[in-house]
Parts: sequence; C-alpha cells; structure tokens
Amino acid sequence: MASLSSALCYLCFLLLFLALVCECSRGKFEAYHTIDIQTLLPRDVCSSTEASPSPSPSRASLKVVHRHGPCSPLRLKQNPDHKQMLDRDQSRVNAIHTRTTTNADLQANAANSIPAHTGDSLGTGNYVVTVGFGTPRRDQSVIFDTGSDVTWIQCRPCPSCYQQREPVFDPSHSSTYANISCSSSYCSELDLSSCTSSTCVYGVQYGDNSYTTGFLAQDTLTLTSSQVLSNFRFGCGENNDGLFGEAAGLLGLGREKVSIVSQAFPKFGGVFAYCLPSTSSSTGYLTFGGGSTFSNVKFTPMLTGRNTPSHYYLDLVAIYVGGQRLSISPTVFSDAGTIIDSGTVISRLPPAAYSALRSAFRQLMSRYKSAPALSILDTCYDFSGYSQISIPTVALQFGGGITTILDSSGILYVASKSQACLAFAGNSGAKDVGIIGNVQQRKFNVVYDVAKKAIGFSPNGC
Ligand SMILES: *[C@@H]1O[C@H](CO)[C@@H](O)[C@H](O)[C@H]1NC(C)=O
Repeated sequence: MASLSSALCYLCFLLLFLALVCECSRGKFEAYHTIDIQTLLPRDVCSSTEASPSPSPSRASLKVVHRHGPCSPLRLKQNPDHKQMLDRDQSRVNAIHTRTTTNADLQANAANSIPAHTGDSLGTGNYVVTVGFGTPRRDQSVIFDTGSDVTWIQCRPCPSCYQQREPVFDPSHSSTYANISCSSSYCSELDLSSCTSSTCVYGVQYGDNSYTTGFLAQDTLTLTSSQVLSNFRFGCGENNDGLFGEAAGLLGLGREKVSIVSQAFPKFGGVFAYCLPSTSSSTGYLTFGGGSTFSNVKFTPMLTGRNTPSHYYLDLVAIYVGGQRLSISPTVFSDAGTIIDSGTVISRLPPAAYSALRSAFRQLMSRYKSAPALSILDTCYDFSGYSQISIPTVALQFGGGITTILDSSGILYVASKSQACLAFAGNSGAKDVGIIGNVQQRKFNVVYDVAKKAIGFSPNGC
C-alpha cells in the first residue's frame, strides 16, 4: 500500500515537473528583437530572393510582389501615401465587419433565403502575382486575395475599364475561351449573377465601392509552365472600376466553390501556401499543392464562420509581448472570432485585447520618443538618431497549442525613420471579428490545407 501511494506521489511530481517544464519552454523566447532600422525600410531597387519551398512536381510556385514596391510590374508613378493606404485598409475592414454582422442578422431571419451580399472586401489588396490566361497565354498581373472568391480580369471589348499596365485580355484571340451559359450550375454558384442572351453575367461589388461585372467565362489558366488548369472559370470583366491600381484583375483564394482553391482541388488537394516579403522591395511566393512536403510547419485548426463561409477563421487564444502572456480573458477572442486575411494590412483585435497589447508594448518601448499617430495607428515612435533599435517580441498563440513568434518585420508599420507605429489596431465593437493582417504574416510560410482543415506557420519562409 505504502509503495503504491509513494509511486502515485512520484507520478504526481513527475507530471507536475513536466507541466512546469512545458510552461517554461512555451514562454521561452527572447523578449526583444534587436534590429538594424534600415532593414525595416524598403529600398529603391528590388532584391529578389527567389526563395520558395523546395521544388516539387506536384506544386506550382509563383512569385509574389508588393503592388507598390520596386519589384512590382505595376508600380505607379505616384504611390498612395501611408495615410491613404491605412484609410483604405480601414474601408476593407469595415466591409468585412459589415459582411460578417449583416449576414449574422440575416441568419436570425430564417425566412430570408437570398444570399446577402453586402460587398466583398477589397481596399488595399497589396500583393500581386502574374499568371497566364488563354491560348496562347497572356500574362496578367493580378491582386491575390484570400478574402474573396471570384477570380476576374478585365476583358475586351471592355466598354468601361480602368487603366491597367498590361494589354487587356482579348477573348477573341484565345482558342480555348468559352462563355458559360446561364443554365450552367457554375452560374448559380455565384453570389451575384444575371443573364444576357443566355450568357451568364457575374458581378462583384467590393466594400469600398469598387466593382466588376462581365461574362462568366472559362479558359486555360497557366500558373507555371508545367502547372496548367484547363477550363478555369473566371469573370471576364467588361465594366470595372475601383482601387485596383493598374492590376489586370484579382485572384480569389477564398473557400467558396468558385475560388481557385476549390476549382483546382483535384489537382492540388486544397493546399496552398504563401510567404509575404519583409519589405516592399523584396519578393515572396504563392504556391499551390505539395501538401505533405512542407517541413517545420506548425498547424492550428482552420475554422469556418457560420456567416461568412469564404473566410479562413482560426482560433487565436493568447498574445505575448516581450515574452509575457497578456492577461486577456479567452472569451474576448472567442466572442469576436478571428480570420486570417492576405489583403488586410494591419491586424485588428477586439478592443480589450488591443488595449492590453498597447499598454504592454508602450511600457517596454518607453525609452523611445513617441511620434504622432498615423491614421488608425495610435502608438508611434521616432527613431531618428538610432541605427539599431530594440523592440519587444510579439507572439500569437493559436488553438492546438501552437505559438508563432512574429518576425521582427511584422510588428511595426514603418512610414519613415521618424514615424514607426505599432502595426495593430483595435476594433470598435467587441463582437467585430479580429483579423490577422498581412504585416503580421510577413516572412511566415503560411500554409492553408482546406482538406485537412488546418492552417500552418513556419518562420523565415522568404
Ligand atoms: C460571349 O457572350 C457575349 C455576350 O453574349 C458575346 O458578345 C461574345 O461574343 C461571346 N463570346 C464567345 C467567345 O462566345
């Protein structure tokens, strides 16, 4: 008897010890990043890294560039300024919030069976990839967006197109192009559609009042020379206007049936991954397929929003600043929910979570001189006179017990050396969905596996 209870006691201690070791190692990462401030500022010339996951015959890998940086084929003479970019970011977030809450209200009204479509979010959509449409292939640089589903490009004759950099796609010059008829089930899968002389007409209205309408079509989509999707369905946009810069259109990476992820499911198994570069003067990648060949990726469950099935939800449970876990009730995160979005720039947190993050961050940054707020960013610093700075680490913990330490380029939004701001903002309502934005995703290899319903992260992807 005595030996049994001492054995149990021993076991208890062992478990307690393991639990402690576990706790310690979980919180065990550096409290500060020491960084050369120059590395946070974009350069005037593109430094293409060509970084991408190990080549695999089952994978297609595209180069990702920032729309306004020197690596972009779409660089404008006059880029929008930081305030404009951040204001547009807020329009995108407002659209996401309206869509999530409006649909939630409609859900309560069970009699309403018409899908509500208050507008996909667009706004900034900062990253572009170049893909080929038609036969022979015509290269088109498109915004890639995990927050919407319909892929579209501007098409001739285009009675109402905005100006784009590359020649506008001409369906009559493609031998593999076909219109899709109104009776096709593909037409009824669209959120917004109508019919003109039995040809299916699609429409997408984005939250910032940008829009595209035209014919639903199919044609060959060339991702890479060895990865080609035939009969890819997309919008041939004849009437388009909005904040698309000079991009030819948009690649929709959402979760609904019309998205490229769903259409290419037989080929790539619902797996794609990307790495967003640390500054606008370097490059990243977007890959499709190759699911089992990713190494060092830590996965968290991919959740589904009841009201917005196209968004990728995940379970944010805690935030660490300077290695310390912020004291935020888990219900603060679970009441709002969290999505990950390639097109939102600045991460949004529930108000209680943001204020805890901000006060911890300010405390650890008190040695630096503060700078004026910038649009939605209220915690800014003046680093003039410094060549190296020391900023607290920020880590996000997700369901499944994974902790991702943000890259040192994923904490500040650096407008200039004298105005660098904490790149997070608070939502206005406690029920507004939280968003993991693209600054925080920088340099992670972010893997989406729709079949396994998992989202994974590994550091230093590009
Ligand atoms: C597609 O439909 C539009 C509208 O009916 C028509 O003008 C166009 O010629 C059609 N294109 C093809 C290739 O059938």
